[in-house]
Amino acid sequence: MKHRYLGNSGLLVSRLCLGTMTFGMKGWGCDEGTATQITKRFVEAGGNFIDTADMYCSGTSEEFVGNAISGYTRDDLVIATKCWFRMGTSPNAKGLSRKHIMEAANNSLRRLKTDFIDLYQLHGPDPHTPIEETMRAMDDLVACGKVRYIGCSNFFGWQIVKANSAAEKKGWSKLISGQHLYNLLRRDVEREVLPACHDQGLGMMCWSPLASGLLTGKYDTSKPPAADTRVGLRADIDLPRYWNEQSFQVINEVKAVAAETGKSPSQVALAWLLFDKRITSVIVGSTKQSQLDDCLVAGDWDMPLEHYQRLCNIVPFPLGYPQEWIDVTRANTAGHE
Ligand SMILES: NC(=O)c1ccc[n+]([C@@H]2O[C@H](COP(=O)([O-])OP(=O)(O)OC[C@H]3O[C@@H](n4cnc5c(N)ncnc54)[C@H](OP(=O)(O)O)[C@@H]3O)[C@@H](O)[C@H]2O)c1
Repeated sequence: MKHRYLGNSGLLVSRLCLGTMTFGMKGWGCDEGTATQITKRFVEAGGNFIDTADMYCSGTSEEFVGNAISGYTRDDLVIATKCWFRMGTSPNAKGLSRKHIMEAANNSLRRLKTDFIDLYQLHGPDPHTPIEETMRAMDDLVACGKVRYIGCSNFFGWQIVKANSAAEKKGWSKLISGQHLYNLLRRDVEREVLPACHDQGLGMMCWSPLASGLLTGKYDTSKPPAADTRVGLRADIDLPRYWNEQSFQVINEVKAVAAETGKSPSQVALAWLLFDKRITSVIVGSTKQSQLDDCLVAGDWDMPLEHYQRLCNIVPFPLGYPQEWIDVTRANTAGHE
């Protein structure tokens, strides 16, 4: 398994990160026995990076991870978790206030049965809390040793810059990672978030790299997904997000590249993300060990440029305005470089 530095930090993480959102989840997840087996297989294959969140299965995912890693040397692992979602009924049991961040961190430490979190992530932006309050609370967690590094998830580019500027001004810890939805069917982050992460020294961790399983090629897209599949069970989220003709075109091309390269469609979809060095790690979610075994190949395989470009171009992805304006007007300013 190859490793990459997470953003501008000195932290080396495996370029596959183990996603644990499905741990304990009824319907589209797995039980503790399978979760433990998957975690062990991942670590034994050389993976050191594990992602969870307080809200995954209301804390059960963190508990399963804590149990599964108990036999390993804690310092060999990079454990990432997150706060932001509502975790109780009291008014402050959510968001990015100092009060909630401190409580959420302590609860995650307890469930994970560890003294420290390697990467503590803001799960989403909180429009009601000043970013200075949030970043100061995160820095205090770093200063007291409960947290090693901090990151964000689902932030706009301008929010990343604002957070890191506030931290820089005060000498506080800065965000070193951005965890965002990025896969061959949803390339939104290429417009603005990925350039912002790169500019600000954040490594990107891609969530849902297989588009809820669609990029494995296992769904028959000529008819609606069966009710007992992940996409069927989460139809309200996944159909508007992915289920359209352009996606089907991309999935077919992923299958063609897989056949040509002797890889599986999942391996092709994961390797496409990792081709871009701004991506530090892709977060693989598995409900069975066989799925993880399939994905693990992408931890080492580098996709050739030819296939990368082919997949980029199968459905044109316009960066839109203001890039369009910049391209049209470039001739006015270019020529002397
Ligand atoms: N920060 C955020 O807001 C956020 C949001 C979502 C996820 N995440 C993180 O990202 C991780 C991954 O997200 P995700 O679960 O949405 O990832 P995904 O790659 O979009 O989907 C993973 C699902 O695809 C299927 N699958 C995976 N590998 C397969 C294979 N080789 N062959 C066949 N099917 C396969 C499995 O579902 P079935 O077995 O049910 O088909 C698996 O649960 C999460 O665990 C979490 O850590 C973060």
